[in-house]
Amino acid sequence: MKQVQTNGKFSKIGFILATAGSAVGLGNVIRFPYIMGDSGGGAFFVIYLLTILFIGASVMLAEMVVGYKGQAGAVSSLEKLTTGSPGPWRPIGWVISSSSNIIFSYYVILLAWMITYIGLSASGGLAHEPAAADAIFASTRENLPRTLLLSILLIILTFGVVSRGISRGIERLNLILMPMILLIFGGMFIYAATLHGFGEALDFMFKFKWSDITMKVVVSAIGMSFFTLSLGSAIVLAYSASLPKGSNLVQSIGYVVLLDTLIAIVSGIMIFSFVFTYGGSPTAGFGLVFITLGTVFSNLGYLGQLLGVVFFSALFFAGITSAVSMVEPMLKAVHYRFKVSRSKAAIALALPTALLTAIITLSFGGYFGDINLMDIVDYILSNVLLPMGGLAITIFVGWFMDRKVVEDAVDGKLHGFFELWYIIIKYIAPLLIIIVMLSLLGIM
Ligand code: PHE
Repeated sequence: MKQVQTNGKFSKIGFILATAGSAVGLGNVIRFPYIMGDSGGGAFFVIYLLTILFIGASVMLAEMVVGYKGQAGAVSSLEKLTTGSPGPWRPIGWVISSSSNIIFSYYVILLAWMITYIGLSASGGLAHEPAAADAIFASTRENLPRTLLLSILLIILTFGVVSRGISRGIERLNLILMPMILLIFGGMFIYAATLHGFGEALDFMFKFKWSDITMKVVVSAIGMSFFTLSLGSAIVLAYSASLPKGSNLVQSIGYVVLLDTLIAIVSGIMIFSFVFTYGGSPTAGFGLVFITLGTVFSNLGYLGQLLGVVFFSALFFAGITSAVSMVEPMLKAVHYRFKVSRSKAAIALALPTALLTAIITLSFGGYFGDINLMDIVDYILSNVLLPMGGLAITIFVGWFMDRKVVEDAVDGKLHGFFELWYIIIKYIAPLLIIIVMLSLLGIM
């Protein structure tokens, strides 16, 4: 009985906001807008929407079906639901669940930097020109004691929230932070619409350039749809295990995809409006927010200080709702597999996680020569482990689960599209994921 009490169930809105909270993260703001503007604009957006609908949302539904029907973490759910022998699914369940926990170990370092930038914005400590901004970002990365301290506090906070269970921990956090993220990005978007660079931002992001659409762009759109929807690492699976009976999976996916895409577009238009109005050129990655946008804010006086605090806080909120989702898969897997309480599982997992975070942090101090561990771990996860996780789940649902159980989970909500979805999951998605993986690794 204790297990049930400590886990709790999501409410309908809680599940949607928590899953959207996982999806909406640093990727939406740091990666998506620039890639869209740089690789076809509106044409890219059309391709992206198609991949989100046919691949992203389909794989998301597959993950949901496993969690919803398994009512446990990935390890126990896969074991319980397979029509074949459970043997191979146990290690696969552990690998899938651990990948999100590994992402967390470096994501938390980014969140630590975000806190530093909230402080810098508030105190007017951001640089006025790009070279100095570059130096501030470098010194942020190289300040190991501060990064370590903040990361450890964030690890304690995250595991603390998750150990409180679904409804009292994860759902409550998302019910507070998600509206705040929407409010801040919405407010900044409205302000950005009054700036003269707004039109140029729209132009940068939405100009249709069909000639830019190459095979590589399509592959990157599929890869991105995976990362942005937090697929392939048992997050959606673990959250869906805490859905009450009678939930409408298909409708929830609609809201999650809508919120995720909306935030990516809104934040992109907003950021580029600032960049085009106040000077600076669009870039990708951390440079865009920490250097380009940091410089823009610092040149706007008190208004800039306010905008900086608000913007970096929104990014931090978006990151922390993703961070919380990243530790749930392992926590749930350990909780169900070894029948220990969530708090005990949290303590057992927080320690190795903190150790990994510390090792990755040290690589910013030159302790491993020129090796940047964060980049390496991120590369392996985004290009190998996440696609492989997605592949395993689609193969599982398409080939190793009783079709009746799958139909029952979807409960007629796909109407005539069930056959299409089933074909996607059984044949098309696995094939496409393999192609994307080979292409991301440069083999194809
Ligand atoms: N979806 C998150 C983002 O866009 C990142 C993420 C990836 C979270 C994989 C969990 C798992 O930033």
